[in-house]
Amino acid sequence: MSVRLNIQNAGLREHELEYVRPLAETAGMLLTERTGQGSEMLGWLDLPHTYDKEEFARIQAAAKRIQAQSQVLVAIGIGGSYLGTRAGLEFTKGPFGNQLHKGEGVEVYFAGSNLSSSYVQDILDIIGDRDFSVNVISKSGTTTEPAAAFRIFKKKLEERYGKAGARERIYATTDKAKGALRGLAETEGYETFVVPDNIGRRFSCLSAVGLLPMAAGGMDIEQVLKGCLDACERYQNPDFLKNDAMLYAVLRFLMLMKGKSVEILASYDPSLTMFGEWYKQLMAESEGKDGKGLFPVSANFTTDLHSIGQFIQDGSRTMFETVLWVETARREAVVPDDPANVDGLNFASGMTLQEMNEKAMKGTLLAHVDGGAPNLVITVSELSDYTFGELVYFFWKSLAVSGYMIGVNPFDQPGVEAYKKNMFALLGKPGYEDMREALEARL
Ligand code: PA5
Repeated sequence: MSVRLNIQNAGLREHELEYVRPLAETAGMLLTERTGQGSEMLGWLDLPHTYDKEEFARIQAAAKRIQAQSQVLVAIGIGGSYLGTRAGLEFTKGPFGNQLHKGEGVEVYFAGSNLSSSYVQDILDIIGDRDFSVNVISKSGTTTEPAAAFRIFKKKLEERYGKAGARERIYATTDKAKGALRGLAETEGYETFVVPDNIGRRFSCLSAVGLLPMAAGGMDIEQVLKGCLDACERYQNPDFLKNDAMLYAVLRFLMLMKGKSVEILASYDPSLTMFGEWYKQLMAESEGKDGKGLFPVSANFTTDLHSIGQFIQDGSRTMFETVLWVETARREAVVPDDPANVDGLNFASGMTLQEMNEKAMKGTLLAHVDGGAPNLVITVSELSDYTFGELVYFFWKSLAVSGYMIGVNPFDQPGVEAYKKNMFALLGKPGYEDMREALEARL
């Protein structure tokens, strides 16, 4: 088993776990019997068994075609149409994957997840004269950020390769039947892949949404789904003492009950920074509603120990940490001996940074626990395609159970629309005229 949960430093007593057993079992049943709110969005629950095998083969073929036709893929999407993919690529290839793993796949850059002009221009400069392809990923096709980015990259492709050449390099992942992007893709003749109807966007990274750019970037997506499948089998047991995904859900629920309203997902490798971003969307959009939920924060240690470490140790006592610890480094680096020892570091001469990192993790954990911030530890054996698939399923399953435990529908996101309405009004989008004046008066 390559993912393990340790609750030794959670600061809970056994009876606390037992008291919530009925609630946890009910939440688990709502999920497995598909009788809870949002149950029409449970396509992820058995995804590793039921995914579309014909589409999977087309994804593999398209990834090979992208690798043959281009050096760069621009993956355009936001939120659930972006975060998991980037998390997977950085998890397996590290933050410098585009520079270091060229033989394995194309460089993948992500656009459409912000409205920064500079960011888009920088990507165009990185592409330079090199060949590139585009995977535009949007269920609706009308989300502002990816729609604006797609216009820019589509125009660039058409200028460079002509309309017919661009058509060969644009891959659209969208709704199977409706929506603006589906219509455009059919009119223009792009190859299309499907954002499934029964899987919410934040659960979609192991559908075509993430699998195509991951495969083009050189990930082994069969291994990703194998990890997901094994996790799906492993986390079936309704007894949370025999099911770490359920146990993690129970622990998160109890933390909330005890006034720990902030969960910090703390990792010790920059390869996990984007995994933390993915986790934040998953947790925040699923649980943050009806005035409830844990506020999810992610941190990368030891880097962030030099910024928010002080607060975690000594600030208001509202948080607990979930440490995501990777047992084996992707690569090793050893601290060399230095006879001058000006920095006083010779006690660590010959140690690997991974060994130092582990001591930092353990020391930090005990210090934070002593300071009143309980810690859970999720250990993963290595950063691989397989363990990425496993971890993704672990978090999906756990979050679904904890969402039902706190009594929300974990599969909707009504709050996401509020900012969009204001933005559309201020941008002058037709249909929002009435709101505009009132909003401008408040600014
Ligand atoms: O979780 C969500 O619903 C959002 O973050 C969406 O993923 C995001 O808005 C992208 O939507 P679309 O795929 O329609 O462009």
